[in-house]
Amino acid sequence: MTNKFIISPSILSADFTQLGAEIQKVIHAGADWIHFDVMDNHYVPNLTFGPMICQALKPLAYTSDKKPVPIDVHLMVEPVDAIAQAFAVAGADLISFHPDASHHVHRSIQAIKSAGCKVGLVFNPAQPIDILNEVIDELDLILIMSVNPGFGGQSFIGSSLKKIERVKKLIQACGKSIHLEVDGGIKVENIRSVADAGADAFVAGSAIFGQKNYASVISDMRAALVG
Ligand code: DX5
Ligand code: ZN
Repeated sequence: MTNKFIISPSILSADFTQLGAEIQKVIHAGADWIHFDVMDNHYVPNLTFGPMICQALKPLAYTSDKKPVPIDVHLMVEPVDAIAQAFAVAGADLISFHPDASHHVHRSIQAIKSAGCKVGLVFNPAQPIDILNEVIDELDLILIMSVNPGFGGQSFIGSSLKKIERVKKLIQACGKSIHLEVDGGIKVENIRSVADAGADAFVAGSAIFGQKNYASVISDMRAALVG
């Protein structure tokens, strides 16, 4: 990973009539990961795409010099385990799930790791993070939702910043290298405050795909992060 900060564009806001081209375009524009929002119309009130779409898009997730771009799967599905395995087979690199969507969180984590993927836990805005005391050592990524999951284009919930700070402290205390990713309402204007709270990976859907020039949004985000 060459960038200290990871930008993970969410294809939820891409043009679905040309998803393959959109992925290539956003990778060319400098995306570090591709964020893949999986919704089941059960855990969240919306329905998106499944492992077959991931498998179809996987061959396109490479830079022009043939470096793989990790597929960052965010499962908003319940139950978790079967669909997580299907995504591992379909080429996901990181798979994150919501702990309240699994009866046996430790087992779900182990199953994703055994399938060869990195694993993350996702926390909704009103959800406590106590479970991290039990499982943080097992994780590669913690994803803090800064909107309620289900839709793109919502506004960042300000109280997430305090939660990000708390999670960052837990990560530091545990001493492992764990990504702290934030998802929802991230824009050029607020990305720096989210980084200052401790995040190192940023999901952005509408902020990137809602503009014509993806490269200029991504480079403005990077400039805000380092400036
Ligand atoms: C919401 C999804 C997000 C969404 C973010 O449930 O998890 O990844 O695409 O969209 P924006 O960046 O538009 O808030
Ligand atoms: Zn997401």
